[in-house]
Amino acid sequence: MRILVIGGAGNIGALIARRLAARGHAVAVGFGRDAAKLEAVAKEARGTVASDLPAAARDAEVVVLAVPWGAAKPALDACGDLLGKVIWDCTNPLLPDLSGLSIGTTDSGGEQVARWVPGARVVKAVPPFADLMAAAPPDAPLTPAGLPPPAVFVCADDAAARGTVLALAADLGAGAVDAGPLAVARCTEPVGLLLIKLGYAQGLGPMIGAPLLRYAETP
Ligand SMILES: NC(=O)c1ccc[n+]([C@@H]2O[C@H](COP(=O)([O-])OP(=O)(O)OC[C@H]3O[C@@H](n4cnc5c(N)ncnc54)[C@H](OP(=O)(O)O)[C@@H]3O)[C@@H](O)[C@H]2O)c1
Repeated sequence: MRILVIGGAGNIGALIARRLAARGHAVAVGFGRDAAKLEAVAKEARGTVASDLPAAARDAEVVVLAVPWGAAKPALDACGDLLGKVIWDCTNPLLPDLSGLSIGTTDSGGEQVARWVPGARVVKAVPPFADLMAAAPPDAPLTPAGLPPPAVFVCADDAAARGTVLALAADLGAGAVDAGPLAVARCTEPVGLLLIKLGYAQGLGPMIGAPLLRYAETP
């Protein structure tokens, strides 16, 4: 697929670009203040730098939003018309000091993104920690043999768009889980915060993830 990664030079954006390119996707990266970093990621992913963001967004089949929450709206605005576009929202809607979520319980970052880009097909799916993704070669499994991959919970109201991101999350090497409509992001976004708390406040470090294990098939 043709994928535009907004924040493509960032911690997680660069790894998404690298892993999806290794699976044969055509990757463009854009939106960052360091042109050299964007160039380096594009080169590694055998892709392009999206210097004209609206044109790149028009051309992309999926636009990946991988910027800090505070930059999410400006980044979407910079993409121009996103009507009908699949937007893969990877953000954790964190407070600036990372102490909690700036939105939640009765609303979610994913739903806020959908309100910012009416008519776009927004999919919420927070990827695994960048450190975990960086530790494995781009075409190798994310976790050592015998250990299940971290889950990525995929929420969207548009079933086709959800299916597209489920496949891309699997291409990242994650355990892609269909979590249903976009409003379920109210439940999945706090999982990202839990992992941040465990990794950084509780000292487990960033080489962690939360796999979903099923102990029996649905009766
Ligand atoms: N890192 C992880 O492990 C991880 C895992 C799952 C989800 N996430 C979520 O993914 C998102 C990105 O995280 P990250 O760690 O990759 O962040 P990051 O590296 O700090 O930033 C991502 C990109 O956004 C760009 N950016 C930030 N503010 C900008 C602004 N005002 N104008 C233009 N460009 C701006 C940065 O460009 P510059 O190079 O110019 O700064 C960078 O390329 C966050 O919402 C995070 O919660 C992260």
